[in-house]
This record gives sequence, C-alpha cells and structure tokens, in this order.
Amino acid sequence: MQSYSPIIWKDDSLYLLDQRLLPTEEKFVHIDSLEGVVEAIRDMVVRGAPCIGFSAIFGLALWIKNRQHIDIDSSREACNKMISARPTAVNLSFEVNRCFDLLQKSISEKKDLKAIYALIVSFGHEQITLSQVKNMKMAELGISELKNKLGARKWNLMTHCNTGFLACGSLGTALGVISVAHSHGLVSHVYADETRPYMQGTRLTAFELTKENIPFSLVVEGAASYLMSNGMVDAIFVGADRIAANGDTANKVGTSTLAIVAKNYGVPFYVVAPLSSFDANIKDGSHIEIEMRATNELTHIKGIQLAPEGAKSINPSFDVTDHKFITGIICEKGFINPAIEGELLRIMES
Ligand code: MRU
Repeated sequence: MQSYSPIIWKDDSLYLLDQRLLPTEEKFVHIDSLEGVVEAIRDMVVRGAPCIGFSAIFGLALWIKNRQHIDIDSSREACNKMISARPTAVNLSFEVNRCFDLLQKSISEKKDLKAIYALIVSFGHEQITLSQVKNMKMAELGISELKNKLGARKWNLMTHCNTGFLACGSLGTALGVISVAHSHGLVSHVYADETRPYMQGTRLTAFELTKENIPFSLVVEGAASYLMSNGMVDAIFVGADRIAANGDTANKVGTSTLAIVAKNYGVPFYVVAPLSSFDANIKDGSHIEIEMRATNELTHIKGIQLAPEGAKSINPSFDVTDHKFITGIICEKGFINPAIEGELLRIMES
C-alpha cells in the first residue's frame, strides 16, 4: 500500500515530490511561499484533487509565516490567490475556505500570528491523517460492493488517470480500493489507462502499481471497447475532481468516454471520492468549470515535437461523466446510487 507521502512539512517548509519527473526521478522540491505553492499546483509538481487541497493548506501556513501582520482582507486575498491555481478540483477551494474560516475566527479572537500559524500547520497534518481513515473506509465499501455484485473471486479491474498516494497523500481513492482488494487476494489484473496527454496512468499509476507489486497492463484509452467487449474488465474505479449535486462527475478527460463504453457492455463503473470532492452548490455537471491546459501538452512530449508546426489542438483537462453512466459513488459516508434523486445530498447532510 502507500509507500511514502508526496507532501512533507519539515522545519517550517513544504517539500513536494515533483510528480513531473516521475517515474524516472524521485525528487522533492522545497517551497517556501504561497506563490511557490500556487506555481507548484499550476505546473502540476503536485496534482490530484486531494493533494492539491492539502498542499494549499500548507501554502497558507507559509503565507502566515512570511508576514508580520494579517487581517481578514489580506487573508481573503491570499485564499483567493491560492484558489486561482487550478479551477476544476473543488478540494482546493474546500480546504482553502476551511482555512479562511479558521483565520477569520482566530483574527476575531485576537490570536497572535504564531498561534494562527501553528493552527493552520496542524490543520494540514490533521487532514492528511484523516484522509487515510476515509480512504480505507471507501476501500472497504468498494470491496464489499464488488463482493455483492461479482462474488468474492479475483477481479479484473480498470482505472483512469492517477488516484493513489501520489494524488491523495495517503492510500488513495479508486486506486485505494484496488490496492486493498489486492492485499486481500481479490485482484487478478489491473488495466490502467495511459491517460493522454499528461500520461498520469503511464507515469504515475504504473509507478504506484509497480511499487505495490499489483499485476497490471497499461492500455491506450481507445482500447476500452476492445477490453470490455472481450470480457476482460469486471469493474472500473475512477476518482473525481468535482461531483455535482445530481452525481454528475468531473474527472480527468477520457473518464466520460470510459463510462459510456462501460454502460454499453454492462461493466459496473464506480466513482470513489471523499466528500471534499463534492460540490452541493452545483446542481449538475454543466456548471463545472473545465480547466483548459496548454496545447503543447498534446503537440509535444518532454519537449519533443510530435505534431506538425502550427497544428491546432485543444486540451480540456477534464470532462463530466453524466450520473446516468455511474453505477455508484463511494465516499467515506457510504455508497450513493446516483439514479436515486436527492441521494447524494442526503448522504452529504447525514
Ligand atoms: O490533472 P490531475 O493529474 O490533477 O488530475 C487528477 C485526476 O483527474 C484524478 O483522477 C482526480 O484528481 C482524482 S484524485 C483522487
């Protein structure tokens, strides 16, 4: 299971595993300012919805550390700057806004800067520790769902993008289910989508599966129909960056295509995500902002030009999977059937 944390807080500084270099280099970068964390999130030194949120908390701690004085206005400004780093993963604003509430309360109680700083640092540690417990709970729920649906045998599972410890700072969400199922002897084989264009599957999921000795094969996204029509996939688990109130789910581009193909072949399709990835303020997926990333992520790989000079491309980094293609959403509070209207909000409020 989890090998090490990609987020380390040490000697009042933040160290992030530079995920741009994986799998060939495992190097941490030292970050000492809020702006540095914003840049690291934007450039995907750190990525994956939960890890973006956790890093942002420490980014705010660094902001406090580097100041002589803070007030409500400057706190809001710092929080907004942090939230602007990437738009789709709601975990970022979820964690930052919780920090803002703590800052507001501390300022009104006239706490000194040192105490506020210590509060935010310990809030960050607490969230990472709690996420381990939540991820384990989701893994257990996912396994019991599959046991009911498919029986307790060895399953062939498929996943998209990267949802393990590199994305979550602990066990992982979708990959957490796979990892715990494997430790119980319930996994035959994993198919990991390469996840064009940023190759989170090839570089990161394959890195994690290799570290855990889980048998896997990388596949191109376009192989989904081949695999499923040949009965090679028993179930699919993916993560989420933002889940709307009706269960529509934004996740790495390609997720929606995978879900549609899965529906066609009757393969169960699960989203595994903590409540911090839920956005009850958004009624359906059409209102989710989709990050558009630089087009050279498509036209070039590691600086090598693939497309002809001047070739146009567009690079939406996420897509929205309609809830009607999702068999179940698994969060730390339980299993949500998105076909039941209002179920998601009921679980959130419970
Ligand atoms: O662009 P990324 O690498 O941050 O995208 C990550 C994903 O889409 C993950 O599937 C998602 O954040 C869920 S992480 C548990």
